[in-house]
Amino acid sequence: MAGVDDDTVDFFSQPRHNHRDLSSGLKLTTLNTGVIIGLVVGIGVLTLALVVTVLVRSWKHGIQRKIRKAYFRKNKGLLLEQLISSDQSLAHNTKIFSLEELERATDNFNSTRILGRGGHGTVYKGILSDQRVVAIKKSKIVEQGEIDQFVNEVAILSQIIHRNVVKLYGCCLESEVPLLVYEFISNGTLYDLLHSDLNVECSLQWDDRVRISIETASALAYLHCAASIPIFHRDVKSANILLNDNFTTKVSDFGASRSISIDETHVVTIVQGTFGYLDPEYYHTGQLNAKSDVYSFGVILVELLTRKKPIFLNYFDEKQNLCHYFLQSLRDKTTMDMLDSQIVEEGNLEQINEFISLAEACLRLRGEERPTMKEVESRLQLLRANITKKVMDESQKNMEDMQLIYSLYDSTFKQNVDSGINTNSSNQIASACHTMEQELVS
Ligand SMILES: *[C@@H]1O[C@H](CO)[C@@H](O)[C@H](O)[C@H]1NC(C)=O
Ligand SMILES: *[C@@H]1O[C@H](CO)[C@@H](O)[C@H](O)[C@H]1NC(C)=O
Ligand SMILES: *[C@@H]1O[C@H](CO)[C@@H](O)[C@H](O)[C@H]1NC(C)=O
Ligand SMILES: *[C@@H]1O[C@H](CO)[C@@H](O)[C@H](O)[C@H]1NC(C)=O
Ligand SMILES: *[C@@H]1O[C@H](CO)[C@@H](O)[C@H](O)[C@H]1NC(C)=O
Repeated sequence: MAGVDDDTVDFFSQPRHNHRDLSSGLKLTTLNTGVIIGLVVGIGVLTLALVVTVLVRSWKHGIQRKIRKAYFRKNKGLLLEQLISSDQSLAHNTKIFSLEELERATDNFNSTRILGRGGHGTVYKGILSDQRVVAIKKSKIVEQGEIDQFVNEVAILSQIIHRNVVKLYGCCLESEVPLLVYEFISNGTLYDLLHSDLNVECSLQWDDRVRISIETASALAYLHCAASIPIFHRDVKSANILLNDNFTTKVSDFGASRSISIDETHVVTIVQGTFGYLDPEYYHTGQLNAKSDVYSFGVILVELLTRKKPIFLNYFDEKQNLCHYFLQSLRDKTTMDMLDSQIVEEGNLEQINEFISLAEACLRLRGEERPTMKEVESRLQLLRANITKKVMDESQKNMEDMQLIYSLYDSTFKQNVDSGINTNSSNQIASACHTMEQELVS
C-alpha cells in the first residue's frame, strides 16, 4: 500500500513536478503571448477609443455647427423680416459677428466679464480682435418674445445714427438668442451716478445735469421726428441713460421700442415700461404715443433736481412715488425743500425754476397737454444759452454788443451742430439765433 502509496506519491509527485516545470514554461510562453495579446488588444482598444472620440467630437462639432447654422437661419429670418419692413439700405451699417469671435472677445462669456444684469439679459464686456472695447448683450430667458425683442432692437438701432444714442456695432445670430454688440460706454448709468451714495457729493454739477437733459431730449426728439419712421423708446429711465468718460450722454436699451408708420396713429399695445416712470394715461389706455416718452423724461428731470429715486422711501420708510411727491410739493409750494442742495448752490434760482416748470409740463396727466420732445429740447437749449450767456456777461463785461451777438451766434451754431449728426438742424439754428437776437435787442 505504501509502495503504491509511494508510487502514487511518486507517480503523482513526479508528474506534478514535471507539470510544474511544464506549467512554468507554459506560463512563460502564455505570459509572452499574453503580453503580446494584451498589448495588441490594448493598442486596438486605445486606437478604437481614439477613433471613437475623434468621431464623436467631430460629430458633436458637426452638430454644433448645424445648430449654429440653424439658429443663424432662424434668427436671420426674423431679422430680415424686420429689416425689410423698415429701411434696407441702412441695415448694412450693422456687422454680423461669428459666435467664436465673441467667445474669444469675452473669454467664453466668463462671469468676471459681466457688466450688469438688466431686465432683458446679461451684458458682458468684451475686447474684439481689432482692440475695440464692446458691450455684448445676451438674453437670459429663451422665449420667442425675448428673441423678438432682441431682433427688434437690432432693427431699430440699425436705423439710428445719433451722437447721443448708443452705437450698435452688430449682432451674432449663431446662438439661441441673437447677441447684440454695442460700443462700450465707460462711466455707467445716470441712475448710478445720481443715486449710488447720497452722502457723497454727486460728480454731476448743475451744468452737467442741464447738458445731460439736453442731450437726452435731443436723442428722443430725433427718435420721435427726425428718424425715417417715428420711434418710441417706451422705456426711458435714468438706468437707460449711459455716460461715457466725458460724461457725454448715450441713450440705450431699445428692446421695448416700437417704430410706427405715420398712418398708424392709434396703435394699442401691451403696456411696457418701468414702474415709477410709466405714463398713467398710457397705462390706462395702452395707446402708444410719443407723449409717454415725454412723461418718463419728466421723471428723469425730477431725479436730476432732487437726487431721489422714482420710487423712494420717505421719512416714515414708506414707498413714495417721486412724481406724485413732486407735483404735491408744487401745490404746497415746498419744492425748494426737496431739491438737491448741491444744485441750489450751483444754479441760479431763475434757471432752476425754469427746469422745475419744464418737469411739471412733462408730467401733466393728459398727454396732449405735455410739450413735444422737440419743444422740451428747445426750452432746455434756451436755458443752457442763458447759463452760457451769464458766464459770458461776467467775463466780457466791456465787450461791445455786436461782438457778443456774434459769439452767441457761434456757440449756438456749434451746439446745434454737435447735438445731432443726422438731424437737419438749420431751421433750429435759425430759430434759436432769432430768439437770442430778440432777447438781446429787448
Ligand atoms: C474667468 O476669468 C478668471 C480671471 O481672468 C479666471 O481666473 C477664470 O479661470 C476664468 N473662468 C473660466 C471658467 O474660464
Ligand atoms: C468717469 O470718468 C472719469 C474720467 O475718465 C473718471 O475720472 C471718473 O472716475 C468716472 N466716474 C465714474 C463714476 O466712473
Ligand atoms: C473725450 O474728450 C476728449 C477731449 O475732449 C477726446 O479726445 C476723447 O476722444 C473723448 N472721449 C470720448 C469717449 O468721446
Ligand atoms: C434768460 O435770462 C434773461 C435775463 O438774464 C431772463 O429775462 C430770461 O427769463 C431767462 N430765460 C430763461 C429761460 O431762463
Ligand atoms: C434742411 O432744411 C432746409 C430748410 O427746410 C432745406 O432747404 C434743406 O434742403 C434741408 N437739408 C437737408 C440735408 O435735408
